[in-house]
Amino acid sequence: MRKSLLLAVLAVAAVVPAWGQKQQSAPWWQHAVFYEIYPRSFADSNQDGLGDLKGITAKLDYLHQLGVDAIWISPCYPSPQYDFGYDVADYENIDPMYGTLADFDKLAREAHRRGIRVIMDFVLNHTSSQHPWFLQSKSSRSNPKRDWYIWRDGKGAGQPPNNWQSDFGGSAWSFDAATKQYYYHYFEAQQPDLNWRNPAVEAAMFDVTRFWHRHGVDGFRLDAVDTLFEDPALRDNPTLAGKNEFGDAEMKNLYNDKLEENHAELRKLRQVTDANGQILIGETWTDSIGELKTYYGAHDDEIQMPMDFMFTTINKISVSEFRRQIALAESAGWPVFVIGNHDMARSYTRYGDGQHNEAIAKLMAAMQLTLRGTPILYYGEEIGMETHQPERKEDVKDPLGVSGWPQQKGRDGERRPMQWSAAENAGFTRGTPWLPVDAGYKTHNAAVEDRDPQSILSFYRSLLALRHTSFALLDGDYLPLDESNAQVLAYARKSAKESIVVVLNFSAAPQSFAPDWKALGADAAKTEVLLSTVEGTSSIKDGKIQLSPFSVCIARLHK
Ligand code: GLC
Repeated sequence: MRKSLLLAVLAVAAVVPAWGQKQQSAPWWQHAVFYEIYPRSFADSNQDGLGDLKGITAKLDYLHQLGVDAIWISPCYPSPQYDFGYDVADYENIDPMYGTLADFDKLAREAHRRGIRVIMDFVLNHTSSQHPWFLQSKSSRSNPKRDWYIWRDGKGAGQPPNNWQSDFGGSAWSFDAATKQYYYHYFEAQQPDLNWRNPAVEAAMFDVTRFWHRHGVDGFRLDAVDTLFEDPALRDNPTLAGKNEFGDAEMKNLYNDKLEENHAELRKLRQVTDANGQILIGETWTDSIGELKTYYGAHDDEIQMPMDFMFTTINKISVSEFRRQIALAESAGWPVFVIGNHDMARSYTRYGDGQHNEAIAKLMAAMQLTLRGTPILYYGEEIGMETHQPERKEDVKDPLGVSGWPQQKGRDGERRPMQWSAAENAGFTRGTPWLPVDAGYKTHNAAVEDRDPQSILSFYRSLLALRHTSFALLDGDYLPLDESNAQVLAYARKSAKESIVVVLNFSAAPQSFAPDWKALGADAAKTEVLLSTVEGTSSIKDGKIQLSPFSVCIARLHK
């Protein structure tokens, strides 16, 4: 029974409707599923051990079959690769290691042909220290580009202008011996901050969005958007008790993080991108829902999709914490749900208990993909890729891991090559991969999972297919059910045309869940199970949904 249902849903996946055939009521990005590609690690077409754009193009059919509507490509611009592309040396080109602009144009064309939009990563807080703008800026105090960055005198010999700390450890100021001033960098010294108070910087960066519009880009993920502005008086940040992972004093970034000025700038940027039909996604590391809310803009005139990272900081399978965060996200605006990316341990590893990892991976997927909002997947989540940290400091590639070792081992573990098959190097490359392939590749790879109807990949495909064709999942309201239940997270998604219940067992024990059928206006006997991972029992018995450990049941309600 379950198998045939699964197959029915898979059959729908094969005909995921193209643009135009989809419902037009909501903006496209509210109905879309996004997928982050870390280009170094996705697919290597020229066998040099590094992924590239032609590699991505060759995998578009895989992404289309998965049901992805938009890809966000982490930076592929020319870069010294100090922070693996988050140090941009030219915003209007492609790094030769990834290919050419012509390769990009082909990728955009081929993606669009399949109904997949293309989002670029826009690193607007800082450039590379090798960007010609910075090279000019540092060449002399009187260079016209001097004020494109933040240069200040020190407080005294060997003393930076204030106590601000780099996110990667140490002072956020580096001294330039030639011009005898300090420049500011929220991240590494190789990533000097742009001065967004300078209108010439703003104009140049806005032009970048127009350039990519001409190359078919549908939107931007705004990197480090919290930290565009700094206090002009450069006041010291308050220090807190204790030390951070780099051994520096803990600090509250009061004067260089989430300044009010951000919002006026985002409103201006939004006008530019709106004019070209491009959307904005934000890397918004907020501490409260109030803060997250500000990023949508008082009149929905800032970022359409600020990511809710508070969701990712719940690092355990906790019904109450997720229920609470979902309710908060619901109250802020159109939610954007993320469970992993290139900066954090993979969700399979963060949530897995070592015993039920497969079931838990499906459980997390079911939650992320059935909530009201837009999900952003991270490559490899759909096949259950894991994070394993490097064991020796000499193997670490990420500068964060180099400066933070051993407390902070960096992000290499979640950036390993995509696992395409059980072949050598997981089918990613015939060369030497830039990071080791994870040991889990023999069982967790796209080719093997493609053939297994019970695999994580098959489950993702079924979920995406269901989501794309369900009025309730696309547009329905979110209604939490049985809110005091500490084992089962359950909710209804209700639209005028359809009602669906999603029941997620967040525990290692079997559970039985009885929705209030009457309150839902449904006849229990007519409930139609659409997708389920329940094992060893029928999904519904005597009006109760039966759940094996960490299982999922998604059902359509009928009167
Ligand atoms: C963002 C990126 C991260 C990068 C940092 C500096 O947080 O996601 O990978 O290191 O910005 O650009």
